[in-house]
Amino acid sequence: MAQALRIGLLGCGTVGTGVARILSEKAQQLARIAGRPLELCRVVVRDPSKSRDGAVPQHLLSTDPGTLCNDPLDVVVEVAGGTGAVRDAVLKCLGAGRDLVTANKALLAEYGPEIFEKARKHGRAIGFEAAVAGGIPIIRVITEGMVANRITAIQGILNGTSNYILSKMTDEGLNYADVLAEAQKLGYAEADPTLDVDGTDAAHKLSILAHLAFGVQPPLESIPRRGIDGIDAVDIRFASELGYTIRLLAESWNREGKLAMHVSPVLLRKQAPLAQVRGAYNAVALVGDAVEDTLYYGKGAGMLPTASSIVADLVDLAVSRERMVHRTGLLWPVGVSKEPAILPDTDLKSRFYLRLLLPDRPGIMAEVAGILATHRISIASVIQHESTGSPDSRVQMVIMTHEAPTSDFRMAVEEINRRGFAVLPVTHYPVAD
Ligand SMILES: NC(=O)c1ccc[n+]([C@@H]2O[C@H](COP(=O)([O-])OP(=O)(O)OC[C@H]3O[C@@H](n4cnc5c(N)ncnc54)[C@H](OP(=O)(O)O)[C@@H]3O)[C@@H](O)[C@H]2O)c1
Repeated sequence: MAQALRIGLLGCGTVGTGVARILSEKAQQLARIAGRPLELCRVVVRDPSKSRDGAVPQHLLSTDPGTLCNDPLDVVVEVAGGTGAVRDAVLKCLGAGRDLVTANKALLAEYGPEIFEKARKHGRAIGFEAAVAGGIPIIRVITEGMVANRITAIQGILNGTSNYILSKMTDEGLNYADVLAEAQKLGYAEADPTLDVDGTDAAHKLSILAHLAFGVQPPLESIPRRGIDGIDAVDIRFASELGYTIRLLAESWNREGKLAMHVSPVLLRKQAPLAQVRGAYNAVALVGDAVEDTLYYGKGAGMLPTASSIVADLVDLAVSRERMVHRTGLLWPVGVSKEPAILPDTDLKSRFYLRLLLPDRPGIMAEVAGILATHRISIASVIQHESTGSPDSRVQMVIMTHEAPTSDFRMAVEEINRRGFAVLPVTHYPVAD
């Protein structure tokens, strides 16, 4: 049999342990497919005394990232996370002639051009299937399966933590803080869940998908994002009453070379395929001009689902398959401005959900309707439950609009807030029909 593919791991926590386990438990199957053994030769961690689920022989452990450059290795799998010391280590490994496999979307979204330039300079390949949607092979779908298409739209549920929280709030009528606390206890949310719940993680992944699908390099700051951290259980209940469910969507559309992108909670009809994606699952819907609508679904995180994608990249490297995904020439080129032309708000249209907390007095509904009409927003339906009747009683009013330009809708919301008759600022979300 040919010489083994010699693998070093940078990091061996949740994902790294999964990679070590699959390499050990499926060694024969992988060697048969790759035509050579996949051999784990070095594992760099911070604390070598931690248990690694019995998946890593003690003699492979080191705390020195330099060993990944000095040991005889073919490929380094970066599953440490973060963008500081790990970025330096990755650049050094590429410089030392190692191929790279990484699950680190933040690293690619923020330093993709630099890392790919280094790989090109040293003739190395980079696999990153695990960086977006964990176990769903979405990178291969875009870079191989859909090459005959011009991709026109991406719509994804890309953050499992947010989807778990929203599903639980919907199914059990719980509030955000209680579900987050439970998700942290069960290991579905990090101790510091900020990047997951504020939409940043989904924006990182969307920027990678948009790069592959549309050939652009959207800076993270150019992606408008809202997370689920402000979601109120009352909006989930009203959405349900109207026949909708709320999901955190990462979306991008390509219209005649101009892009629209955002990460936002969106109301989806309960029957819509993405509305059925529950718990920590992910899904990505892609539209291609030849294939039309496609949908990919699976576990977006977790030890073995993520390791599954990493090992697929390792087998690709082992067989020297010049996978398009590894062709660093096409990915994150530097020196070429690939910043997307962004569609202005005036060109973007949507239906909208808005909820207002109003004093229960005559004429208030007409006042709201008047402001919406001034901004050419037409009302599709209204829900207003009776107030309790006490002197300071307030009413919740929920309005669904017909399709309107986003810029007009924003101006209407600003005006309602400015006029000061609503008790709280207006809550609003786009609606995808
Ligand atoms: N968890 C998932 O389901 C999932 C899914 C998709 C992608 N990812 C991505 O995969 C990466 C790893 O995630 P994870 O959940 O496996 O993280 P994790 O459980 O926190 O493990 C991180 C590992 O990296 C080691 N490490 C961190 N910084 C290091 C440094 N500077 N030098 C050496 N070792 C270092 C840690 O060492 P010690 O063990 O000694 O502390 C630990 O073994 C992240 O980029 C994450 O975004 C994770």
